[in-house]
Amino acid sequence: MKRKIIIDCDPGIDDSLAIMMALSSKDVEVVGITIVCGNAPVTMGFENAKKVLKHMNRLDIPIYMGAAKPLKKEYVNALDTHGSDGLGESFLEPVEGFYQPLTAVEFLSQTLNKESCSVIALGPLTNLADLLAADEKAFNNIEMLVSMGGSYKAHGNCSPVAEYNYWEDPEAAAIVYQHMAKLGRLIHMVGLDVTRKIVLTPSLLSYMERLDPEKGEFIRKITKFYFDFHWQWEHIIGCVINDPLAMAYFLNPKLCHGFNSYVQIETESLSRGQSIVDAYDFYRKKANAHVLNEVDVRGFFELFFELLLHMEKDKLTELEKLIAQEVDHEG
Ligand code: RIB
Ligand code: CA
Repeated sequence: MKRKIIIDCDPGIDDSLAIMMALSSKDVEVVGITIVCGNAPVTMGFENAKKVLKHMNRLDIPIYMGAAKPLKKEYVNALDTHGSDGLGESFLEPVEGFYQPLTAVEFLSQTLNKESCSVIALGPLTNLADLLAADEKAFNNIEMLVSMGGSYKAHGNCSPVAEYNYWEDPEAAAIVYQHMAKLGRLIHMVGLDVTRKIVLTPSLLSYMERLDPEKGEFIRKITKFYFDFHWQWEHIIGCVINDPLAMAYFLNPKLCHGFNSYVQIETESLSRGQSIVDAYDFYRKKANAHVLNEVDVRGFFELFFELLLHMEKDKLTELEKLIAQEVDHEG
């Protein structure tokens, strides 16, 4: 039985790779994609999601536009990282049509009241906070909530202590984490502690192109800008692909390990957006998050390649050698 998911995202280069992974997996059914402002304005994210679905020949999947700005803070995009088109300045052909009669919250509410479905949140949590305000029962029906966001001990990527998704809309993240605490449930926090270890390197990208020129070429097209950004700002040869790890973790939870903890999101001042992980239980509060802090990097890339290149299991041995050479070398 396929597990049903809604992908809430801000495509976005790494969001796009995560969407491609989900669409390539035979274990999940993507019921719909909801767009939130984040890396790109929500209208641009909507257009980019269409481009990815067209590339994957899956324009049957509905896309719904959500929040155009954070709950309280001024909207700050991340186009400096994702390019002026939000997709690595690949400037892919726009996809015509595709009008959707529902908002993201209406779609989330309708779907979650009808069937068991998980939500993979790859952007700021504004849509989920809006859903909570509009239809708490639907929110509470979410089967598994995975969020790419936050960090435990890793330094931030848009301030010394904050990761972008939770920094861009800290009120939304705080509301969602507080609600999970009230429910006594766990949000799966796939933060920078683990995603920073997932670096798509030039060699791994070249392997992808060797193994499948057409698919590899598309990935190069949308990640080139990201490679340049990482060299310019973090002097990394390669690019950290955050969202694909959150998707991979949902597909195979064994890829990451962590611990349960109470987590609170700071909304103001210098530490705006920081995910305060109470790993030593100072506040004596019940855990509301499963915080991931260990990752099987090789296992991730094997799944990444297997899904995106439709690798047959028996071909994986050669691939495993290529990945081991690269990843073990990367350490
Ligand atoms: O901080 C990384 C996260 O912010 C990723 O989800 C990226 O796509 C951006 O949304
Ligand atoms: Ca994202």
